[in-house]
Amino acid sequence: MAMNEISVGILGIGTYVPDKVLTNKDLEKMVDTSDEWIVERTGIKQRYIADADTATSDLATKAAQRALENAGVTADEIDLIIVATATPDMLFPAVACLVQDNLKAAKAAAFDLAAGCTGFMYSMVTAAQFIKSGLYRKVLVIGAETLSKILNWQDRNTCVLFGDGAGAVVLGETKPGCGIIGVHLGADGAGGKFLSLPAGGSRIPASVESVTENLHFVHMNGTEVFKFATKVMGEAAVAALEDAGLTANDIDCLIPHQANIRIIQSASKRLKVPMDKVIANVDKYGNTSSASIPLALEEALQAGKIKNNDIVVLVGFGAGLTWASCVMKWCKEENTFA
Ligand code: UT7
Repeated sequence: MAMNEISVGILGIGTYVPDKVLTNKDLEKMVDTSDEWIVERTGIKQRYIADADTATSDLATKAAQRALENAGVTADEIDLIIVATATPDMLFPAVACLVQDNLKAAKAAAFDLAAGCTGFMYSMVTAAQFIKSGLYRKVLVIGAETLSKILNWQDRNTCVLFGDGAGAVVLGETKPGCGIIGVHLGADGAGGKFLSLPAGGSRIPASVESVTENLHFVHMNGTEVFKFATKVMGEAAVAALEDAGLTANDIDCLIPHQANIRIIQSASKRLKVPMDKVIANVDKYGNTSSASIPLALEEALQAGKIKNNDIVVLVGFGAGLTWASCVMKWCKEENTFA
């Protein structure tokens, strides 16, 4: 880190999931699947599902309110809101603008960021640059999804995997040497075809045909995404650690994107970080895409798994294809649950 550079850390965190739980047993009644298959292949036992009246901005707003409270920051102190989402309420306006209105964060600029499940990491790194440059002081970063709305509930290859939820952090200046100390972002657009929602944009505008052909749902080549994920998680974390002048041996707590327990275990093995230092809660939430990392981070903090001066590595992958990692030195000022 350059001398005199502003250090950026998490001042507060908040999460929110809808009330309704959908278990694997419930899914058995909907598609040709079994609790046994889902648990063995993915580690998922249940997921939370938003009701018909709830959209992504509703979950995002609730998580944001909790993050603001946790940080002891008021909405009118927020300079910028970034929402990472693959499931916006609508194509435009941005979810971030809807949240800005809900929170009455009058002076905040607002935009959405699309990087699939990696969106939260991309947004954190983007937000940090605004603070480091001195342009903004406090930025709200939210990962929020209602994936249940874009799933084909007759396609067992995808509908068992995902869940709804939101997580938010307030980023701001922290003690020198603390907070975000290393980052790495990457993308491989050639792999975009492996995970997409084909219709509803300018390539295939909504039509009777696009609906009949199920093109408004998630389409995924699970095997290709799995291969990509197991390779890239370790590599991304190592690259961010290198940026911080550290190695995988320095990791005290690894917070991976929660898509599949086997992908998480593979990252643990590749990085030689034992599973007791790895946060996994995919069993409770399924894959909540851009919300998964803040949901896991908050759980780690509440369980007291992150201590003062710990090296915490966040790492994710997703549609794009994209990947990202962020290394943080977790100083007491940031650990507001301790
Ligand atoms: O955030 C990024 C989003 N996506 C991901 O991270 C997904 C990454 N990929 C994965 O997690 C895994 O590839 C899956 C969980 C999607 C699939 O697991 P797998 O071990 O790779 O299974 P598979 O695709 O090789 O399928 C094995 C079998 C197939 O049957 P056949 O062709 O062998 O007869 C599937 O049809 O399992 C079948 N299958 C199911 N069976 C019961 C697929 N989905 C289900 C299901 N229930 N839900």
